[in-house]
Amino acid sequence: MTVPIAIIGAGIAGLSAANALHKAGYAVHLFDKSRGSGGRMSSKRSDAGSLDLGAQYFTARDRRFVDEVQQWQAHGWAAEWSPHLYNHKNGQLTPSPDEQTRWVGAPRMSAITRGMLGRLTVNFSCRITDLIHGEKHWHLLDSDECTHGPFSHVIVATPAPQAIALLAAAPKLATTVAGVKMDPTWAVALAFETPLDTPMEGCFVQDSPLDWLARNRSKPGREDTPDTWVLHATSAWSKQNLDLPKEAVIEHLHGAFAELIHCTMPAPVFTLAHRWLYARPSSAHEWGALADADLGLYACGDWCLSGRVEGAWLSGQEAARRLIEHLS
Ligand code: FAD
Ligand code: NAI
Repeated sequence: MTVPIAIIGAGIAGLSAANALHKAGYAVHLFDKSRGSGGRMSSKRSDAGSLDLGAQYFTARDRRFVDEVQQWQAHGWAAEWSPHLYNHKNGQLTPSPDEQTRWVGAPRMSAITRGMLGRLTVNFSCRITDLIHGEKHWHLLDSDECTHGPFSHVIVATPAPQAIALLAAAPKLATTVAGVKMDPTWAVALAFETPLDTPMEGCFVQDSPLDWLARNRSKPGREDTPDTWVLHATSAWSKQNLDLPKEAVIEHLHGAFAELIHCTMPAPVFTLAHRWLYARPSSAHEWGALADADLGLYACGDWCLSGRVEGAWLSGQEAARRLIEHLS
């Protein structure tokens, strides 16, 4: 019987590694503490439709990722998004069109990782708390004190702060990862009964508690949903207001939105707030992935590269490549 490889985290990095290993003929077993895949690329089903509260869109610059995204498009999991973009600076809201190709999951962001998951083996709602290295193999312990295993190797594909404890068997690796700081982002969704009277569909914001605004129904596959906007606060504002109650966050960010948009701002009929504690690495790294290859322990995620969807996917590929290379 082949001993599978365990992958902790079914976000885009974990699934990228899983797909590369599966293609190379290895058995993989994924674990995620959430109820579904996607992590920061997931979508939340709500009364106002399916909402992308984390990653809003992604760009593809590396040739390997460009090819991958084309395959996602061919499967119908991803589509191009060409919003009417604006920029808000010094109190001025101005159209800011550009030539950049931007992609989104269709009909929701989570469609991509759902597609990548396919028939791979996964345990959802399973938070791994410890990795135990026996004589030859690894076993994983979860928060219900169940043990999973044996596994030949383990890939930890979680945000850096959540990876530290899992890497305790490789102290050098754990110390490197402990040096990676990640910043939070408060996300708010607001739905309006009457669509806002603006052509704006996405906006980069400066000089405000807000960093980014998006009109959900301007994205492909979401046209029939109410006029729902996703607002992201800056890292600085999110850090300063980390423990603010959700109602207060909604009020503040709704206020900031009303201040910058030049149209009547009615009361929303639906509101939602979500705090991403580990939204983005404070600085970029160029590790690709990290490994203690002799121990069979690997770490990957957006924090190993650019802090974007593309970086996370490339990092998963790199973890798989190094693992395969060590075996051959
Ligand atoms: P994650 O998506 O965080 O996946 C890690 C997974 O590990 C999660 O599913 C988690 O549940 C699981 N996990 C953690 N600990 C455990 C454990 N102990 N046991 C089991 N499972 C565990 N990128 C862009 O390119 N464009 C954007 O517009 C963009 N906007 C963003 C906006 C926000 C608000 C946020 C939060 C992120 C944004 N990003 C954007 C970044 C992008 O979402 C991430 O870079 C990417 O999704 C990270 O993928 P990942 O697989 O490395 O990590
Ligand atoms: P991109 O090329 O569209 O944007 C990169 C940056 O360039 C933007 O943040 C913006 O400042 C600027 N920019 C791009 N087009 C612009 C335009 N038309 N007008 C004005 N400014 C423009 O996408 P890329 O490089 O893939 O970046 C991903 C996006 O994801 C970034 O906006 C980043 O801030 C965001 N992100 C947010 C996170 C969060 O936690 N809120 C985490 C990770 C990424």
